[in-house]
Amino acid sequence: MESGTFEDIIAFAIKKEEEAIDSYGSMAEKTKLPGIKELLLELKEEEKNHKKLLQNITPERIESLKIKEVMDLKISDYLVEEPPSPEMSFQDLLILAAKKEQRAVELYSDLGDRAEEEELKRLFDFLVTQEKSHKLKLEKEYDAHVLEWD
Ligand SMILES: [Fe+2]
Ligand SMILES: [Fe+2]
Repeated sequence: MESGTFEDIIAFAIKKEEEAIDSYGSMAEKTKLPGIKELLLELKEEEKNHKKLLQNITPERIESLKIKEVMDLKISDYLVEEPPSPEMSFQDLLILAAKKEQRAVELYSDLGDRAEEEELKRLFDFLVTQEKSHKLKLEKEYDAHVLEWD
C-alpha cells in the first residue's frame, strides 16, 4: 500500500491481526502436541488484544503505550519453514510461527516508516516490539526444547 488515511491504515492493520488470530487458531486446533497448543492459544489471545487496541485507538491510548527494546535471538532466521499441516512437528510449528512473527515485525516497521503522523509511528513502534516479543517467545521455546536434542 502506498499511503492512505489514518483509518485506511488502521483498517489494514486490523486485517493483518485477524489473519494472525486465524492462523494461531488453526495451528492450535490442528496440532496434537499439547506442549505447544497452549503457547499458540496464548499468542492468539495477544493478537486479539492487538485487534482490540487498533479498533479502539485514540491519541491518549497511543500516548500511554510502553515501548521497550526486545532482543532478537534470530534462531528462526536461518531455518526453512515447512507448509502448515496437522502432522507438523513441534520444531516445524515453532519455525513457521516465528517466521510469521518476523513478517509481522517487518510489516509494522514498514508501516511505521511510511506513516506521516507521529501518533501512527508510535503505534507501529509499539506493535513492532509486541511482534518481536512473540518471535522471542517462540525462539526461546525452540532454544529450550529443540536445540538441546540435536
Ligand atoms: Fe499482532
Ligand atoms: Fe504476533
